[in-house]
Amino acid sequence: MNIAIDGPAGAGKSTIAKRLAGALGFLYLDTGAMYRAVALKMLNCGIDVTDEKRVKAELDRTVIDVRYENGGQKVYLDGVDVSENIREHRVSKAASDVSALPCVRVKMVELQREIACKRDTILDGRDIGTFVLPNAEVKFFLTATSDERAKRRYAELVLKGANCTLEGIKKDIEQRDYNDSHREFAPLKKASDAIEVDTTDMSIEEVTGYMLDIVNGKKQ
Ligand code: DC
Repeated sequence: MNIAIDGPAGAGKSTIAKRLAGALGFLYLDTGAMYRAVALKMLNCGIDVTDEKRVKAELDRTVIDVRYENGGQKVYLDGVDVSENIREHRVSKAASDVSALPCVRVKMVELQREIACKRDTILDGRDIGTFVLPNAEVKFFLTATSDERAKRRYAELVLKGANCTLEGIKKDIEQRDYNDSHREFAPLKKASDAIEVDTTDMSIEEVTGYMLDIVNGKKQ
């Protein structure tokens, strides 16, 4: 069984997906981490992430690897664990830009499908229900207001000691939503058969319980 969870940044996808995966005994695949790893590589090499030709040339000699260690997903870039580095704020914008390039998406989607076909998997991203796994048994589309999403991201970044403002984060999130939903190839979009969950006024427990009930209903 595959479960697709799509939605904009900060809607709660990864937190909820991890909990659901734990409760159901599924593998959790955070697909955004893969685009982030590509973005980090390009930033490290000083390559303009909108320059498709140069990105493609570099990507051809790049190895992105997803491994499961101590119960969690780790992302390796050319053999180095970059799971922490890819969370840096500067990587978020670059990941959104680089993910608009078809050459990047084709390579990442191939890897995602390969992982998902081996086990029961929950994937979160932007195009899982519409493009990566259009036949996923259950599809969710998580949303929340941009104010709420910015507050969540801000709290996360402050905990990590980042120097940022709530206003700045909100602007970045809105810009990223715009980029992700307006790109030509596999944009952020609710699949017609996805169940929309507005998490603005819901606790993590409420959202998880609601989604778990739906999945268990489908399994019967
Ligand atoms: O979920 P995230 O914030 O870690 O994702 C980082 C960027 O990667 C996001 O702005 C858009 C892109 N992305 C994508 O295009 N498709 C996916 N399935 C997952 C992420």
